[in-house]
Amino acid sequence: MAFEPLPILSGRPHRYFSQIGSTNDAATAWALSGAPEGAVVLADEQTAGRGRLGRTWIAAPGSSLLLSVILRPRLAPETLPRVTLMGAVALAEALADWGLSPGIKWPNDVLLGGRKTAGILSEAVWSGDDLTAVVLGIGVNVRADALPDAAALNATSVEAALGRVPDRWRLLLDLLARIDAWSARLGDAALLDTWRAYSVTLGRCITATLGETAWMGMAEAIDEAGALLLRTDDGQLHRLLAGDVTLHG
Ligand code: BTN
Repeated sequence: MAFEPLPILSGRPHRYFSQIGSTNDAATAWALSGAPEGAVVLADEQTAGRGRLGRTWIAAPGSSLLLSVILRPRLAPETLPRVTLMGAVALAEALADWGLSPGIKWPNDVLLGGRKTAGILSEAVWSGDDLTAVVLGIGVNVRADALPDAAALNATSVEAALGRVPDRWRLLLDLLARIDAWSARLGDAALLDTWRAYSVTLGRCITATLGETAWMGMAEAIDEAGALLLRTDDGQLHRLLAGDVTLHG
């Protein structure tokens, strides 16, 4: 599908599609053909939007921010999940600047009023054995009509939290400014500290599930790689790199 320029992003390498399969797929292809650090793929509509753990990401056309940022981080492979944490931190900071009170639910959900407003899917791009890029994919429910049945899905939107129609492109620029700032500091302790400050997971009793396995216990910490350290009632500490979290107390 053809892309066009988005005037507010002039000066920044970008590809804007009115409709595409997945911005992450387009960004991966562009990364492999030489896109620079910070290049952005955006779409008004995805026909094959992807979420974590093989799920589908649904958003009504024009209702959301659907973007993928191409990063070329210098991180050890085991700390690549920091890119995902960074995406959540960048968005939380942008929303906080708008007077909202976002929270981050491990690993990557950005919540407003306890409901999911955005999700992040970062994917490594390999060229043979070499990590050539990481695609940071972010989907933000901007308008209240982003999802057909948001309440039933425990989801919400920036519009619902703000009580007015947000400027989608202003939010994009604010988010990209935060991503640009943090992408130069992916290895800093401050990134994890900021994630912790927005966390609604740490210090809570939770259930984490991955496939058929569930662990219930206290979310004690995240480590340097962004893994969740969960203490179950038998005293064991479990290190989780992926999963879904339900918050209890
Ligand atoms: C999640 O499951 O919470 C992550 C959702 C990530 C969705 C975004 S929308 C833009 C980018 N392109 C995709 O196909 N997925 C991500």
